[in-house]
Amino acid sequence: MANLTTSYLGLNLKSPLVVSSSNLTASVERIKNFEEMGAGAVVLKSLFEEQIQHEIGNLAQYSDYTEAADYLKHYVTANNVNTYIELIRKAKSAVGIPVIASINCMSASQWVTFASQIQEAGADALEVNVFMLPVDPHKTSAEYESIYTSLAEKLTRIISIPIAFKVGPHFTNPFAVIEKLWYLKIRGVVLFNRFFEPDFDINTLKVIPASIFSHPDDIRNSLRWVGMTNHLVPKIDISASTGVHDGEAMIKMILAGASSVQVCSAIYMNGAKHIASMLSKLSEWMDTMGYASINDFKGKLNYGQIHDPALYERSQFMKYYSSFE
Ligand SMILES: Cc1cc2nc3c(=O)[nH]c(=O)nc-3n(C[C@H](O)[C@H](O)[C@H](O)COP(=O)(O)O)c2cc1C
Repeated sequence: MANLTTSYLGLNLKSPLVVSSSNLTASVERIKNFEEMGAGAVVLKSLFEEQIQHEIGNLAQYSDYTEAADYLKHYVTANNVNTYIELIRKAKSAVGIPVIASINCMSASQWVTFASQIQEAGADALEVNVFMLPVDPHKTSAEYESIYTSLAEKLTRIISIPIAFKVGPHFTNPFAVIEKLWYLKIRGVVLFNRFFEPDFDINTLKVIPASIFSHPDDIRNSLRWVGMTNHLVPKIDISASTGVHDGEAMIKMILAGASSVQVCSAIYMNGAKHIASMLSKLSEWMDTMGYASINDFKGKLNYGQIHDPALYERSQFMKYYSSFE
């Protein structure tokens, strides 16, 4: 029987399947069920920077916007920081698997001191879910990217638990950013987050939310960057995310070099039992292929391992234009 244990952020996971940050991980009962189904770790739902800012009395900028202020007041009442700390404590005492806390960030301001409370509450690691939509045409990409590095510097000064950055796919050179994060003592990256996106209803002429769940085809973008990062920034741990809907997709991500694989939409759609079925696919496949442990095949198809790295680099359909009628 294959050994599914893996190491991620220096933590020993009994399996590479990590339940992603979302409302799925906002309840201790659900977290217990995920552990029973074989999950290697859980990432708690994110605590949002705005919540923390509010708690430290720094939301004055919203006071002119009644709607925003009301929304925040309501949201913060329901999800305040103490409730989050309590969730970490309860989850830690209910399960044996690592519990990774998550903060959603848009800036590197003084709120980061709050990370020490997360550490004190017993979180095994911190996932920092960073994204700011670059809406200012006068700001350079380097200025936006400096928010990531300054966050990393501040957080690693404050806490000693391992930190992973969960990032989106929109960098000109993701490897440069990831390598900088590694030198700033960030131990892992989650590639990639999937964000809320707008869609249009052409009958009502309204902007509506696009589907919040991913599709199995969405794995392709993450797969390329996981496979290249594992070779180009080899020391940083990678947790693959977006579009991992079945055991086969999990195997592909590990072949690309992921230390762990995060699953969200597929659990929403199929329930917690889907974790067990994905892991049994992984185990059967490893037995068939003669792999005794995850390390036997992790990164076997990364950018540096394959004979023709151009397969990763090819972005244009040039070759197909001539033969695809
Ligand atoms: C309903 C819902 C809530 C989510 N909430 C969070 C969150 O609080 N923090 C976070 O980092 N990601 C959040 N995500 C993103 C997921 O953790 C995950 O990165 C994304 O859905 C891509 O993975 P998937 O293809 O397995 O769904 C959420 C996703 C969904 C569908």
